[in-house]
Amino acid sequence: MPNIDQYLDENKDRFEHELCELLQIASISADPQYRDEVAQAARWVAGQFEKLGFPTEIVPTGGHPLVHARSPHVPGAPTALVYGHYDVQPVVPLELWTTPPFEPTVRDGCVYARGASDDKGQMLTHVKSAEAWMTVEGRLPINLIFLIEGEEECGGQGLATFVQENREQLACDCVVVSDSSQFGPDRPAITCGLRGIVYAELRLTGPNRDLHSGSFGGAVANPANALAKMLAALVDEHGRVQVPGFYDDVAPLTDKQRQQFASLPLDEAAYKASIGVSALAGEEGFTTLERLWARPTYDVCGMWSGYQGEGAKTVLPSVAGAKFSFRLVPNQEPSKIVEELRQKLTEVCPPGIQMELTIHHGGRGVLVSEDSPYTLAAARAIEQAFGTPPVYAREGGSIPIVVVFSEVLGVDVLLLGWGQGDDNAHSPNEKFSLADFHRGTRASARLWEELASCPTKHA
Ligand code: BES
Ligand code: MN
Ligand code: MN
Repeated sequence: MPNIDQYLDENKDRFEHELCELLQIASISADPQYRDEVAQAARWVAGQFEKLGFPTEIVPTGGHPLVHARSPHVPGAPTALVYGHYDVQPVVPLELWTTPPFEPTVRDGCVYARGASDDKGQMLTHVKSAEAWMTVEGRLPINLIFLIEGEEECGGQGLATFVQENREQLACDCVVVSDSSQFGPDRPAITCGLRGIVYAELRLTGPNRDLHSGSFGGAVANPANALAKMLAALVDEHGRVQVPGFYDDVAPLTDKQRQQFASLPLDEAAYKASIGVSALAGEEGFTTLERLWARPTYDVCGMWSGYQGEGAKTVLPSVAGAKFSFRLVPNQEPSKIVEELRQKLTEVCPPGIQMELTIHHGGRGVLVSEDSPYTLAAARAIEQAFGTPPVYAREGGSIPIVVVFSEVLGVDVLLLGWGQGDDNAHSPNEKFSLADFHRGTRASARLWEELASCPTKHA
């Protein structure tokens, strides 16, 4: 594909410029204050497809809009559905950013901005590869359906509903998602598994107001003490989650899977150094990659109570709260975990404390085929663009909609991450390598060609 490669080469600067345009839009989906910016990002994405002449619609949902576009129909050719998200995570703590999150800046070959890697930069590779085909060849070799949503980072249900209600219209041969990472620098990967999630919030209430901790302490249940005790009761000293039934449905690792994980080169010393910890921790009896990819976990994501200002204030707080998540592995059912959790927390909640448990979102884990014709096509495309074949890996993160695609549409989902594990997704100083941006775009352009010779059920 010399002409397409040449086009991609000649337009690199403009692609980077356009990525920066999108990165300037503060499309933070979790914060209602940024509603207009989220809508603006949707229009920007839709504008990209309109320029290519694709029929495009901005679909309103109960939450943020969904961008839906289609390439011109190629009879007899397979159809790929391309998924991505244009919304981003909040940017706090702002003071830790070297340059402001919505003023994209290039340093050391990387663009720094919120959403650079997750997912604006990765998503755009598929838009630009489609542009290259349309401009150079006047057509794509396959049919593409783009679904780019604005509610991924806030757990919105708009896209899931749209997929369920439009399954005939969305019939396809495979789904393509670039919203994950390579295994390491110059080590592209095909991601074959994602974890699921249950995200919970616990609020504890004790006395009807903050009290003097000397006058009342010792006689009144303290919600902050209770919170610490209850959160600690959910895991033991061996790293095993203490929710009854939690492990009942966990798919055990096969020997072959353990060998495959062990064959991947993880440098634990470098890993520890990169995140500034002196030791790694987790469930006993499992390696780091097993803990990250194939074992369920429990992590407190935030907690608050009492006095947090300067100096000391002797107070017995009236309320305490925490947000925490369980990462789930295939076969674990979020709704079942929630019921078991509610029961466990009720049991360990001390007298004099009232608890309220809210579930923010949930989703099952997923495994995808490593040897379908579509996966093999993706492997060939990646090898041509990156100069090295992909490794087969998994990710510890979650993309709940992937389960909906695989179950409702009944197709393979290709998880082709162009990011890196140290891109600082969800953290200050998020970045994306521009070399990976361009290699990802080239791999995407080849993928359409490679998929063209795959079987199709929807000609
Ligand atoms: N792109 C990530 C998912 C991801 C994270 C894939 C790490 C591979 C490695 C996605 O945007 C994300 O952040 N997902 C959330 C899901 C949640 C909001 C329902 C997550 O994993 O926390
Ligand atoms: Mn993402
Ligand atoms: Mn994310």
